[in-house]
Amino acid sequence: MDVLLRRMGHVVEQASGVREAKERLDAATTPFDLVVTDLMMADGTGLEVLDHARAISTETQMLVVTAHGSVETAVDAMRRGAYCYLEKPLSVNEARAQVEKALEKRSLLKDNVSLRIITRGLTPEGGSGSLIGRSTAFQTAMEFVRRAAPNRASVLITGESGTGKELFARAIHTSSDRSSGPFVVVNCGAIPADLVESELFGHEKGSYTGASSKTLGMFRQADTGTLFLDEVGEIPLPLQVKLLRALQERKVRPVGGTMEIPVDTRIVAATNRDLAQMVKEKLFREDLYYRLNVLRLHLPPLRERREDLPALIEHFRSRFAAENGRAFVSFSPEALRLMLAHQWPGNVRELENAVERAVTLAQGSTVIRDDLPPELLGAAGISRPGELLLPPEGMQLEATLEDIERSFIRQALERAKGVRTHAAAHLGLTFRSFRYRLQKLGMAGGDPGGGEGEGEGEGEDLRTRR
Ligand SMILES: Nc1ncnc2c1ncn2[C@@H]1O[C@H](COP(=O)(O)OP(=O)(O)OP(=O)(O)O)[C@@H](O)[C@H]1O
Ligand SMILES: [Mg+2]
Repeated sequence: MDVLLRRMGHVVEQASGVREAKERLDAATTPFDLVVTDLMMADGTGLEVLDHARAISTETQMLVVTAHGSVETAVDAMRRGAYCYLEKPLSVNEARAQVEKALEKRSLLKDNVSLRIITRGLTPEGGSGSLIGRSTAFQTAMEFVRRAAPNRASVLITGESGTGKELFARAIHTSSDRSSGPFVVVNCGAIPADLVESELFGHEKGSYTGASSKTLGMFRQADTGTLFLDEVGEIPLPLQVKLLRALQERKVRPVGGTMEIPVDTRIVAATNRDLAQMVKEKLFREDLYYRLNVLRLHLPPLRERREDLPALIEHFRSRFAAENGRAFVSFSPEALRLMLAHQWPGNVRELENAVERAVTLAQGSTVIRDDLPPELLGAAGISRPGELLLPPEGMQLEATLEDIERSFIRQALERAKGVRTHAAAHLGLTFRSFRYRLQKLGMAGGDPGGGEGEGEGEGEDLRTRR
């Protein structure tokens, strides 16, 4: 079986029994495409392997090999999700056909579910406030939240506009033991300079013209909770020293007041400006900078963590589809490609707005390219033939398309180190249609990209991974 699978161009991992199979299933970074298992093994039955594989991924296809034609167990295996069972002695043709069928089903499933992977386990809060992502950068940020939350130290969150600074600030608050206290947001850039002090620290009645009543100020409103100082780089210099004092002493003095009042507030600050640079230019106090910058979380722009795109797109799609009562709206492959190719200078906020707009504009149940914001439409480059110019002397379309096809196939094979199933995946093709194209273009014969017969090791085969 392993030899056959390798000949078919698959990457195969083997296990010698139930225990090892389970270990390998657990260790795989992406779920296996196909599991092939014997029913009777020394340390258990193949049914356990099936259950284990199924628990990890519902997409994994499963084939059962049975020696004794024990139909009951085989039926049991089918009931547990096995695609079919093969009786020993194996017929190579039959086995090959079943493997192909199972993997075809797998690739159909893959297309369907590829946008439905959301790291739900990582959401500190539910509903529309959920943090979505799966890139390493995102997971590092989530890990930071987990470690910073129980602390009282100030946090400084940096990142371009729309990267999720406020959402992460909330996550730190909700994951902390202050979560039953208030989360108070002060947008330091939006308050007129002469009012920032009383906004932050409160004021006594009559302390300045128009101060008709006493106010607490945001610091005291956030007592026992978290104060989020958004756009902290905008705080006027003269006030920075007062802010520093409040942070150091954990006390505030209201405008026009004489008493200092103790507050128990945790500070999370955010900025999209380069505070270190502002310190150099004497626009931001160095001592305050260090006071705020005890724990630092940097959120990279979306273009540097593109792995987050599919999950975010699906998250916003399902949210806005539900809000608009159009639960079945989905993206056409072209629209999706354009979304995935865009640079997203406005980061998650831009993406969120684009998806909302698209879901609202979509006629019927499919978002097409015309429903996307115009900035996205130039992104697909050469993959949009409409953008290529027809030479004045005319052209040979068939031959040109074949050249393009050949070039992409060659690149895909190179990238896949000759493994055809992988190359097919790079091109969004099923293995069958990839093989058909190789033949059609005369690229099928023993070229280095063949990927056949690259077996290493032999024996009883359990699984294959494409
Ligand atoms: N990882 C994420 N998962 C889900 N939604 C997100 C994520 N990151 C950001 N968002 C959403 O994107 C939008 C922008 O996020 P947020 O307001 O936190 O960004 P910001 O960094 O504070 O931006 P600005 O600097 O412009 O204030 C919000 O609607 C937020 O809910
Ligand atoms: Mg913000």
